[in-house]
Amino acid sequence: MATMESLIVTVNRIQRACTVLGDHGGDTNLPTLWEALPSVVVVGGQSSGKSSVLESIVGRDFLPRGSGIVTRRPLVLQLHKTERGLQEYGEFLHLPKKKFTDFSMVRKEIQDETDRMTGKSKQISPVPIHLSIYSPNVVNLTLIDLPGLTKVAVEGQPESIVQDIEIMVRSYVEKPNCIILAITPANQDIATSDAMKLSREVDPTGERTFGVLTKLDLMDKGTNAIDVLEGRAYPLQHPWVGIVNRSQADIKKNVDMIASRRKEREFFASSPDYGHLASKMGSEYLAKVLSKHLKSVIRARLPAITSLINKSIEELEAELSHLGRSVAVDAGAQLYTILELCRAFDRIFKEHLDGGRPGGDR
Ligand code: GDP
Ligand code: NA
Ligand code: MG
Repeated sequence: MATMESLIVTVNRIQRACTVLGDHGGDTNLPTLWEALPSVVVVGGQSSGKSSVLESIVGRDFLPRGSGIVTRRPLVLQLHKTERGLQEYGEFLHLPKKKFTDFSMVRKEIQDETDRMTGKSKQISPVPIHLSIYSPNVVNLTLIDLPGLTKVAVEGQPESIVQDIEIMVRSYVEKPNCIILAITPANQDIATSDAMKLSREVDPTGERTFGVLTKLDLMDKGTNAIDVLEGRAYPLQHPWVGIVNRSQADIKKNVDMIASRRKEREFFASSPDYGHLASKMGSEYLAKVLSKHLKSVIRARLPAITSLINKSIEELEAELSHLGRSVAVDAGAQLYTILELCRAFDRIFKEHLDGGRPGGDR
């Protein structure tokens, strides 16, 4: 197995274990460790297609989507790649030990858990929902779905909601570990895109921003987005990726993920405008690009991550020796798990330290 891959798996597990631990880290630096590890955040205006893009990356139907403000709490989604042949399932932090094998029930639980915190109103809450998906068909990634940026409050929402959402989104995208998927619908004016505006502000060099253009199928006849997709209109460090997600009508008709990906591939392959770009478009390609980028980020950060992990090992050993007095037993077990994972990371890292850099990557 590629060393980079096993380091990423371990990083992912540490991230998950830190999440489960919550605020019980005692005097440790675990929040800093969490933040040192990369995650992918989707930003964009309301109904720009953020949740749809995330679903496509995962390759499963499980997120609430639709017109208006559907995503009303952050969803921290951790993908864990499991061995081939194993059954896929989801698990929520607030419902430990309950395995969801029916992904429509995952969607329902996200909706119910959102309502539990916000009421059935159109209110938002910054308290994240944590979901892990275990599947042979995913790449090891942490993805974060956020409420959409908006310019006006709708009925039932406080006037402050516009700012509240922006503050919430900012708190994620400002972090240097955050890879930004800036989602802009192709059927709107890109010059006024909320996603582009915010990502330019927090990431002026564009090194952690991926421009994603959705709704290419909804552009007016006779117009196209070639200037954007070829990087002329809005140059970014990483190439733009065009996407065709399911329409609201497709969702109503229960068009499944396999059919929608096929439709997307056909859209690009058969398009007179985009045919020449077809191999670099679509959600599957975006997932590959992200996974590759994530590896390079982790590789570049390895020295920093490794030293943080070593520091955490020391802190955790100290914290655990106080156990019984200062931490709950569950938290102790969790700290121990994190300690073991940190040690595993350190071991893999050292074993393969070959000329100062782990090899074996594709
Ligand atoms: P979010 O609010 O940004 O999370 O957007 P959603 O993913 O909930 O999508 C909002 C609506 O736009 C839904 O009805 C989707 O079906 C629709 N939609 C999203 N992306 C596309 C696309 O590429 N093409 C079409 N035709 N509809 C899309
Ligand atoms: Na929406
Ligand atoms: Mg959404």
